[in-house]
Amino acid sequence: MESTSELDQATALAMLDWQIELGATEAIGDVPVNRYELETAPKPARAAPSVAAPVVQEEVDPVAVAMAEAARADSLEDLRAALNAFELCGLKAGANSLVFSDGVPGSRVMIIGEAPGRDEDRQGKPFVGPAGQLLDRMLAEIGLSRAENVYITNVLPWRPPQNRDPETQEREMMKPFLARHVALAAPDVLVLMGNISCETVLGRRGITRLRGKWEEAWDRPVLPMFHPAYLLRNPAAKRQAWADLLALKARLKRGD
Ligand code: URA
Repeated sequence: MESTSELDQATALAMLDWQIELGATEAIGDVPVNRYELETAPKPARAAPSVAAPVVQEEVDPVAVAMAEAARADSLEDLRAALNAFELCGLKAGANSLVFSDGVPGSRVMIIGEAPGRDEDRQGKPFVGPAGQLLDRMLAEIGLSRAENVYITNVLPWRPPQNRDPETQEREMMKPFLARHVALAAPDVLVLMGNISCETVLGRRGITRLRGKWEEAWDRPVLPMFHPAYLLRNPAAKRQAWADLLALKARLKRGD
């Protein structure tokens, strides 16, 4: 083949036109490109238009999750951490703190209240407001104190908005944590303060009938009592509360 230097300009231009007609678009290239082959080369398969797969939301059973999380806790500190990590109870988002417990773990007496109020939510401890101060005075009458020989918690560890009553599903959701709390604290007796604790632990309300009568739950003797907040509103009921405190004292003395 003749070298381009030997071609006259008109022939060179004619060859260039011919190449352009054939489809050449690059004037410079070390390797010739066969455009016909490119045209017939198999095209990469187009991804099929994606049809959005229906998102199957798995139903979470909060009680089952709570049971599994609580069962994993081997110590009170584990249980506190499990509660801190538990995101299925809506009350948590509105509360300032987790109110876990106060007093001496391993005490013979464990008191179960209802839920934190404003003071408890602020301080992160159960029964520190006016009802709690009355509770301390009542316990002192029979030689008990949270500094020495009582352990205290609540059914719910987070304050309900406006101190409303806990809802059934909130109580049911938190009950596995409470049961584990009792098992880990291992008291000899439980004292249930008020209707909410009775309903959660015994499955019954009606504190006026329940109070002062020993029941059993979680393999332990249980004594329902009037809630100290009720006693603040109804001082006349303190007489019955006093009788219940004496029953508690007698049971501890008997040691059964
Ligand atoms: N009432 C309760 O039942 N628990 C508290 O911690 C405070 C008030």
